Amino acid sequence: MSEQLIIFDTTLRDGEQSPGASMTKEEKIRIAKQLEKLGVDVIEAGFAAASPGDFAAIKAIAETVKNSTVCSLARANENDVRKAGEAISPAARGRVHTFIATSPIHMKNKLRMNEDQVVEAAVKAVKLALEYTADVEFSAEDAVRSEMDFLVRVFEAVIAAGAKTINVPDTVGYSIPALWGERMRQLIERVSGSNKVIWSTHCHNDLGMAVANSLAAVMGGARQVECTINGLGERAGNASLEEIVMAVKTRRDVFNLDTRIDTTQIMATSKLVSTITGYPVQPNKAVVGANAFSHESGIHQDGVLKHRETYEIMRAEDIGLSTNKIVLGKLSGRNAFRQRVQELGIPVESETELNAAFARFKDLADRKSEIFDEDIQALFSDEAMTHEKEFYQFISLSQASETGERPHSRVVFAEDGKEIVSEGQGNGPVDATVHAIEAQVNSGAELLLFSVNAITTGTESQGEVTMRLSKGGRIVNGTGADPDIVVASAKAYLSALNKLHSKVEKINPQASGTV
Ligand code: KIV
Ligand code: ZN
Repeated sequence: MSEQLIIFDTTLRDGEQSPGASMTKEEKIRIAKQLEKLGVDVIEAGFAAASPGDFAAIKAIAETVKNSTVCSLARANENDVRKAGEAISPAARGRVHTFIATSPIHMKNKLRMNEDQVVEAAVKAVKLALEYTADVEFSAEDAVRSEMDFLVRVFEAVIAAGAKTINVPDTVGYSIPALWGERMRQLIERVSGSNKVIWSTHCHNDLGMAVANSLAAVMGGARQVECTINGLGERAGNASLEEIVMAVKTRRDVFNLDTRIDTTQIMATSKLVSTITGYPVQPNKAVVGANAFSHESGIHQDGVLKHRETYEIMRAEDIGLSTNKIVLGKLSGRNAFRQRVQELGIPVESETELNAAFARFKDLADRKSEIFDEDIQALFSDEAMTHEKEFYQFISLSQASETGERPHSRVVFAEDGKEIVSEGQGNGPVDATVHAIEAQVNSGAELLLFSVNAITTGTESQGEVTMRLSKGGRIVNGTGADPDIVVASAKAYLSALNKLHSKVEKINPQASGTV
């Protein structure tokens, strides 16, 4: 008989700690609803003590989500645990996840606490959390560099205090699969009371082994994996949910485990997270990358046509990708559009939102003969959806570049409803466009990242641009999509400026310097 593997998603907490991935309360609620639809067991909705905004978002998610446990992170101190307990109080099922570092390097330099003090704080935090919920998780931060005997001591103490889940994090992405699996196995063997709890793993991807380490821990006995959509997270990210889930499903012969995940929701969830956070998915990313199911070499194409399993170990349909990718065109009506939007699992809040997206679809279909699923998804991107109400709005652009000449760009955009025409020059057309916008806006922002992705295949494809800007300690990501990549760049730049300009509270635990 197979056992259950608990999927704990921390996109809204650890994922949000990626630069510029900070979200508003409404964005977090939107993602939480999609995670519920995906079937994750636990949604780590945030870190309640980090900011009033994060507290409010966790509470709102706890009020909204019914079929997943809603969890808040808390350091092992009274204020954090009480805030976490209060934030999850409306949840049908709520969890407090408390943590303290257990490695010599963290205890000495960060906490300035000795081993006895760490054990005492951990036990106190678990007992206090139990006043709010019976579902308490304890994490030993930097378990990877902690001494085994001390880990055993801490875990025995928190299990005796009533913790129900014990999480073993590779906080710095330092482990390798054989060692991590063995560490999990030894802990389960040595800790008294280990059979009373669920063992969990939480791996970061600094050496590119987060998924492999997580799966090794599962083979060593872990029955909860902490992960994020698209592997979003601090530095190189966390273990990617879609890779873990599809590995366990595809290699059921090895793992003999089930998850509650509806894998056909994977693609929609990946797109939603990428759109809201402004983090594009690399084309060769496992499972959800644009190339994950495309076969370029003739030998592979031939093999797949003759018998799909020759080169495919997963079916595109299993992750919610349609095999018939050309969906709509210029003559498609509102009903066909609505149906495809629903099939893609794109959450649409109102008829007005659908109508506005349909108008953008018609506009795009005038310029592009075949509209693919990815194009439809881009119509619902941040930049596209907020266009009407934003401070800066793209209107039009003309641009000239010629070999040997410095490119020139003329951008027309609105600033608070007032039309502005601005010109600039640069190294290339995108540089000239950014200079043209800046000649008027003078934002003083620093450009940290500029990336262009083709949304679909072929030169007719729309380009999806991400621009990451930093100003006054805030980092934001703007995105834009258009068949003309210079226009997409202008839209992305203005979208990032809108985020910098916006007074809407973005929730970012990282900015508060707490975790
Ligand atoms: O990476 C880590 O150690 C964490 C803990 C707070 C679980 O995110
Ligand atoms: Zn982490």
